[in-house]
Amino acid sequence: MTRMNLSAELDRWLSPAARAVLMRVGACATDLGHRAYLVGGPVRDLLLGRTSYDLDVVVEGDALSVARAATPEEGPAPVVHHAFGTATIQVGVFRIDLATARDESYERPGALPTVRTGTIEQDLMRRDFTANAMALGLDGERRGDLVDPYGGRSDLAHGLLRILHEASFIDDATRILRGVRYEQRFGFAFDGRTLRLLQRDACFLDTISGDRLRHEFERTVAEEEPEQTLLRLDSLGVLRVIHPALGFGLRESEALVRGRSALVFDAQFATFCWCVLVWDMSITEAEALGARLNLPRRVMNSLADTVALSGIEAQLDEPGLSPSEVFDLLHDHSPAALVAARHLFLRPVAQANVSRYLSRLRYIRPVLTGRDLQALGMPEGPLVGRVLSALRTARLNGEVATREDEKSLAQRLQRELH
Ligand code: CTP
Repeated sequence: MTRMNLSAELDRWLSPAARAVLMRVGACATDLGHRAYLVGGPVRDLLLGRTSYDLDVVVEGDALSVARAATPEEGPAPVVHHAFGTATIQVGVFRIDLATARDESYERPGALPTVRTGTIEQDLMRRDFTANAMALGLDGERRGDLVDPYGGRSDLAHGLLRILHEASFIDDATRILRGVRYEQRFGFAFDGRTLRLLQRDACFLDTISGDRLRHEFERTVAEEEPEQTLLRLDSLGVLRVIHPALGFGLRESEALVRGRSALVFDAQFATFCWCVLVWDMSITEAEALGARLNLPRRVMNSLADTVALSGIEAQLDEPGLSPSEVFDLLHDHSPAALVAARHLFLRPVAQANVSRYLSRLRYIRPVLTGRDLQALGMPEGPLVGRVLSALRTARLNGEVATREDEKSLAQRLQRELH
């Protein structure tokens, strides 16, 4: 096999600080009589000319000693995960994860693998796709040498995603979700056999724990265009394996694209994606999906809101609803569920009412506070809450405009309600 050296490309690709640390990793590995390699995603990204901030390093030898020796004195100590025999060095935005080269076998489908120390070739063999099964030497004369035993570079050049062995998806069905993510992110194609096995083995997703499945979904929605991956998972029949009522079509895709700009925070966006995914489900189905994926309580509440909202579309579509009526119908629901409803409702008046609520009505409050009401002589207790809510209704409907208007309404209400 011809030797291919990418040290010049590696140096151009890394920031000076990350380059310095990887140089030290290589030098320390040599000193300790070990070998170190950059592996997996970063090698793929370097060859594709894409940025990568997660740098995975595999050491033939003891990764923890190399990590300790290579950490810059001025920087924070490496974070060591003894249970996994791994260590993480943070260098600015770069995160360098060091692990000892492993060989592994799966006792049963979906189980975590049984792990032994191994060679770099064995370590690469246990990986998901050939494009992710390459390494670059970091030490001594081997610095920059490409280790590519399974044809990763050629597959990468042809835009192909290929598994390394027949049982790959059976051993770890999360690779199905990972593969579709790569396919869409890079515009790659599965090779024929890989696609056939992916569809044949999708049923093995049943062997994956809820936490791992959820994690893969979270990584999917963090992609630049998650809708493409979700559409593809749907057309391959993968979503239905996860839950028979789980689907994602063009309508959901458009909702995701339009909703994204409305939700500033990533966490909110992830919840919003779940809301879009359960839009057509009954509450029983949404709860079953939530239980399967071990979704947190906060997300489950938004899913329940979504199902409730999809059931009141006709009510919200009534022409002539007052602002306070719209407020009363919507104010109990989470923003993620409301944004989903805004983009999934088909009826124009209902859509406009949700927009009105999201952009304006939800922020409207009376000027007077509970303290102000007490200063006006109102006794502490439930009456204060009732008057504040009536003041908000009056504000929403434009029946009061100034502080003085609110004061006189509050005084009248106190007399009437007392
Ligand atoms: N890997 C694998 N099978 C899995 C998970 C991970 O073979 N189920 C391997 C792949 O070689 C992958 C590497 O472990 O490249 C690191 O995993 P991860 O960080 O999830 O992959 P990246 O390719 O770095 O992912 P991304 O580009 O999405 O960050």
